[in-house]
Amino acid sequence: MHFSKEIINWYHHNKRDLPWRNTRNPYKIWLSEIILQQTKVVQGLGYYLKFIKHFPTVQDLAQANEETVLKLWQGLGYYSRARNLHYSAIQIVSEFNGKFPAEYASLIKLKGVGDYTASAVSSFCLNEPQAVVDGNVYRVLSRYFGIENAIDSTIGKKKFKTMANDVLDKKQPGLHNQAIMEFGALQCVPKSPECKKCPLVSSCSAYSNSTVNILPRKQKKIKQRHRYFNYFIIRHGDDTYLEKRTGKGIWENLFQFPLIETAEKLVIDKLVQLSEWDTLFNKSTYKIGTIHEEIKHVLSHQIIRARFFEIIIIGGFESDYLKVSLGDIDKYPVPILIGNYIEQHISSVSV
Ligand code: ADE
Repeated sequence: MHFSKEIINWYHHNKRDLPWRNTRNPYKIWLSEIILQQTKVVQGLGYYLKFIKHFPTVQDLAQANEETVLKLWQGLGYYSRARNLHYSAIQIVSEFNGKFPAEYASLIKLKGVGDYTASAVSSFCLNEPQAVVDGNVYRVLSRYFGIENAIDSTIGKKKFKTMANDVLDKKQPGLHNQAIMEFGALQCVPKSPECKKCPLVSSCSAYSNSTVNILPRKQKKIKQRHRYFNYFIIRHGDDTYLEKRTGKGIWENLFQFPLIETAEKLVIDKLVQLSEWDTLFNKSTYKIGTIHEEIKHVLSHQIIRARFFEIIIIGGFESDYLKVSLGDIDKYPVPILIGNYIEQHISSVSV
């Protein structure tokens, strides 16, 4: 087929040399694909190398504790990927005799593995004819074939999957899948693609209809939730306090400074009147130290405005929070928002 042939030809001339492309080890390929979901290659590469170095085999990953895995993942975001990664590694050791599966039918049973990852790993490792559909593939197919269905609609998803399987080169599905993703990442890019340099320009529907800038279509506009996080860096001699986040929201199992969330930005005089303040600082004597500038932290569905307040304890302090020496604070996995604060204001301070 013209489409696949051109894409593969383009790939041979333009592909990046990436470590997960020089292996057929399903563990390594799975790891790379989990990292590369929602993450660009330039950002993901360093994490991939770090993970392979720490955990050369699935057994090594399974034996690690979750905190170590989350610490290595720190900064990559979407932390459920890391928790699922660890969970699946344990599952493979206990239920699959430690043999990492490469077939689609087995892969799809793993936690955190969906159609995309199962297709990628099985086609790269075994040349199973399973077409990958990720953001890059949506863009390439919608533009080249002029598909107007929204990529987040049920009909759209089905149509793109069928289309991806129709155009798949069944003799070399692994190569085809790598090629179409790389083509989307480097040539058919979201903004201002250089269509004049594209080998498919003469037969591209979007180019001839001037719809390159509006495809692919999405139906839902993401609704952003606004949140106000007030973090308290309690200075108690050389110690401070942390808590582990629980629940199903963002950053599950990561650590944080004691937090009071408010519905709007409150000045310190208002914060001290909250019942949460009393609970946090009950009966202790303290001095309010530096109040840092607000940091805006944008996630896919939330905009967080965070402020860090230093509270200096005078005398004793009783608390259910985890007491942590400032010198040990770097050991805990934290959201990058907090990681940046620690790096700027704590790690550099000798204790
Ligand atoms: N994005 C997702 N999977 C990828 C891969 N295997 N190579 C490059 N970019 C990717």
